[in-house]
Amino acid sequence: MSKVTVIGAGNVGATVANVLAHRDIVNEIVLVDIVGDLARGKALDTWQQAPIDSYSTKLIGTSDYKDTKNSDIVVITAGIPRKPGMSRDDLISTNANIVTSVVKSVLEHSKNPIIIVVSNPLDVMTYAAFKAAGIKSSRVFGMAGILDTARYRAFLATELNVSPKDIQAVLMGGHGDTMVPLPRYTTVSGIPVTELVKPKALDAIIERTKSGGGELVKLMGTSAWYAPGAAAAQMVEAIVKNENRIFPVCAQLTGQYGLNDIFVGVPAKLGKNGIERIIELKLNKEEKKLLHESAAAVKEVMDVFDKM
Ligand code: APR
Repeated sequence: MSKVTVIGAGNVGATVANVLAHRDIVNEIVLVDIVGDLARGKALDTWQQAPIDSYSTKLIGTSDYKDTKNSDIVVITAGIPRKPGMSRDDLISTNANIVTSVVKSVLEHSKNPIIIVVSNPLDVMTYAAFKAAGIKSSRVFGMAGILDTARYRAFLATELNVSPKDIQAVLMGGHGDTMVPLPRYTTVSGIPVTELVKPKALDAIIERTKSGGGELVKLMGTSAWYAPGAAAAQMVEAIVKNENRIFPVCAQLTGQYGLNDIFVGVPAKLGKNGIERIIELKLNKEEKKLLHESAAAVKEVMDVFDKM
């Protein structure tokens, strides 16, 4: 049984802890926030849900990294949302500082944890965590693709009036409007989606997926948490249960897809060692072009971080 630390007890972090506790697959979850009482309160609330929903996972909330000692997996959701008047570069610098300091504090108490980054801007925050951690990139990666794919699958389920369970899809690239959904690799119970959805409707769904995060910010005035939290919990589950599941993961590329030293979304196999394997799809010319465009956009942000 494992120990999982979730840093940031805001909307997303608390959801990761809550969803994971319900799976009843880890021994202990430590919820950490700079605001200690918030972490303590949310951990206690989820612990008080245990008798009702029947799970044994223990939860504690804290602001003291000593409590994270010997964590097997660490999920990082700490950060601040973009505020009015704040430039993108300011946001990158603030959140990169947070992610860097969090990773350093974590590693003082856990030797070789698997680190899953959720803080935005995702691709560059994963890069920042990797640089701060100094551990293998198969153990430091980001959650974005499961969420983006889930949005795409949910929209397709609505369009086709079928269960979202039966929609399988792959999506690659950065976590932003350059992401690359791949209709050629999207099926409904094995049936190519292109046989079921007309090109115009499919294009509209792809566009809606690309701005899926923004749609929710507009509706709620803040970014989403249920699907993002569940997505990160699903990655933890794949690792804890050594499931070898294939998900789109924000991973460091070292030559795959003709890309080097960059963190972008690619299909990867997740198991007990983190990323067990990155899968290289045979992309066609157009798909490759879109992926490289997305990678270039991510690289630009990584360069901003490198110059800080
Ligand atoms: N250490 C620990 N916790 C921190 C730190 C820090 N250095 N800095 C900020 N936090 C905490 C805040 O106190 C807050 O409780 O991170 C939490 C962030 O929570 P929210 O503001 O509710 O943000 P949330 O919606 O959870 O999103 C968190 O995930 O999906 C991404 O874009 C999202 O980057 C954002 C992150």
